[in-house]
Amino acid sequence: MEKAEIHFKNRAQKYNRSSNWVADQALINRIFELSGVGAGSEVLDIATGTGLIARRFYGRVKKVTGLDISPEMAKHADECMDEIIFAPYEQMPFADNSFDAVVCRQGLQFAELDKAIPEIYRVLKPGGTATLCHLTAYSEIDRELAFAIQKLRNPARRNYLMPHDISDCLRREGFKEVTDIEYVTDESINKWIDNGAIPQENMDSIRESYRSADDEFKKIHNVRFTDDDILDEMLLVIATAVK
Ligand SMILES: C[S@@+](CC[C@H](N)C(=O)[O-])C[C@H]1O[C@@H](n2cnc3c(N)ncnc32)[C@H](O)[C@@H]1O
Repeated sequence: MEKAEIHFKNRAQKYNRSSNWVADQALINRIFELSGVGAGSEVLDIATGTGLIARRFYGRVKKVTGLDISPEMAKHADECMDEIIFAPYEQMPFADNSFDAVVCRQGLQFAELDKAIPEIYRVLKPGGTATLCHLTAYSEIDRELAFAIQKLRNPARRNYLMPHDISDCLRREGFKEVTDIEYVTDESINKWIDNGAIPQENMDSIRESYRSADDEFKKIHNVRFTDDDILDEMLLVIATAVK
């Protein structure tokens, strides 16, 4: 089993409550709107997980397909999509030019990007859209600590992303009209680290990382310490592009 598959097997039960961004309807709506889909669209949601993004499209477009490697996550994806396929996004079992839109939220941090981005391009129809949302650091200033915290929270993560990393991959692949849209999510660290898949020592190290962070990190992330929690404004980037 892949590291990511084991991580999400352990996390599946709690997944839908494991951060503020997970259930953020404004974010889900934003991804839906940016994808530019219509009633006749065929949509692929890669790394669909428990289907929270797919659910926004289901019934509003012609067909929604979810793709993931985790049957455990999919157990929580009832009534979210027309079909679910278990396969890695690095090797998708779809013909060329199959979909009008590919969407992905918080999935590409596990990807072999040099395989997954060409696959997204391949399965999209000409004129089809990619809408890819992921957590990033803000800049060189917070990068080192932000990535260290991300690693403690999800040891299965392969990629640590800066704001333009995915859009740069999209441009290199030949996508057009590439844009990056920033979306700030205010996270309760208690909630964010209680994901069911990391040991207590990682949770303690994350809390300690915030306490000992330098002032610049605290300022960029608007870190606030309450009686029993820590709050962090994290940066998500939604990269959009057209084949
Ligand atoms: C953080 S969850 C995101 C779920 C969903 N997109 C959402 O926004 O709530 C990441 C998902 O990526 C899936 N994943 C990890 N590696 C993958 C791969 N190589 N191919 C397909 N899915 C993968 C995991 O199984 C997990 O369900």
